[in-house]
Amino acid sequence: MSNAFFRGRRLRRTPTIRAMVRETPALAAADLIMPYFVVETEDAGFRKEIGAMPGQYQLSLQSLKEKVGAAVANGLKAVILFGIPAKKDALASEAYNPNGIVQMAVRMLKSAWPELYVITDVCLCEYTSHGHCGMLTPEGEVQNDPTLDLLAQTAVSHARAGADMVAPSDMMDGRVAAIRGALDAAGFTQVPIMSYAVKYASAFYGPFREAAESAPACGDRKAYQMDPANTREAMREALADIEEGADCIIVKPAGPYLDVMRQVYDNFDLPVCAYQVSGEYSMIRAAGLNGWINEDAVIMESLTGMRRAGAKMIITYFAEYLLEKGLVR
Ligand code: PBG
Repeated sequence: MSNAFFRGRRLRRTPTIRAMVRETPALAAADLIMPYFVVETEDAGFRKEIGAMPGQYQLSLQSLKEKVGAAVANGLKAVILFGIPAKKDALASEAYNPNGIVQMAVRMLKSAWPELYVITDVCLCEYTSHGHCGMLTPEGEVQNDPTLDLLAQTAVSHARAGADMVAPSDMMDGRVAAIRGALDAAGFTQVPIMSYAVKYASAFYGPFREAAESAPACGDRKAYQMDPANTREAMREALADIEEGADCIIVKPAGPYLDVMRQVYDNFDLPVCAYQVSGEYSMIRAAGLNGWINEDAVIMESLTGMRRAGAKMIITYFAEYLLEKGLVR
């Protein structure tokens, strides 16, 4: 269709008119979720920068408290926690230990800032000696059904510690139903599940595995995380989790999967959360540190893309930084 009268530039002339016609609402502090890595350590002041993620840290409980305190003062509303236990074993015992590192961190954060929304990542890979997200057979295959009970116990222990929401990221089949059933049976009917329903087996998680010390000792996660080439399967994964009781759906990674995010948004009426993962963070930060890009503008543009694709919430390692710099309020 050609229209000789159309001049797109008329509505782009000034910042005011651009803001007036802007389709995607500006990001707000309430949309951002900041991930933190909390380490079980005797060294109270422990704070170690992650090599592949400049500006991100492994933190002791006390260091976490200081960091979150500053972020809350800048307007941070929500966090997602990952734990690094002092000891790992084949049964991931520390994942569901009532006094495990994440459980302690939840209690500490909720008592210091009751209004801070604390989400926990529910997975076993940071707690198993072999680094896989579930129990292994002697042959080294991840067992689905025996893993479900441990995931459910983990989620309930997080809820008991005061977690506002749990986010299972393991990609076992049936885990949302198992977790929902266990939460309800324990009296936590009000704790929502934000399911990593659409989680791809992605090389973009590389830096995270350094941060969380969770790289699999052998093999990879392709037998449980999704094949990056698939979109229709993503709809089946989302539908399965919704039918099992998921309250929100995460698409992960975010940037390379905006088409999938848009399809999830179009097909289902649950809130969609984008996870801008470690590798996406590291690439933007590295280029920024080298002066190759305008980092702040690239961050905002990358997040706007996710919002355009249908995400409401965004988990991003830039959350703290954006609030500190006043780029998001
Ligand atoms: C745990 C988990 C991972 C991430 C979030 N939860 C790692 C993985 O699946 O290997 C990745 C997050 C990131 O890269 O920022 N299963």
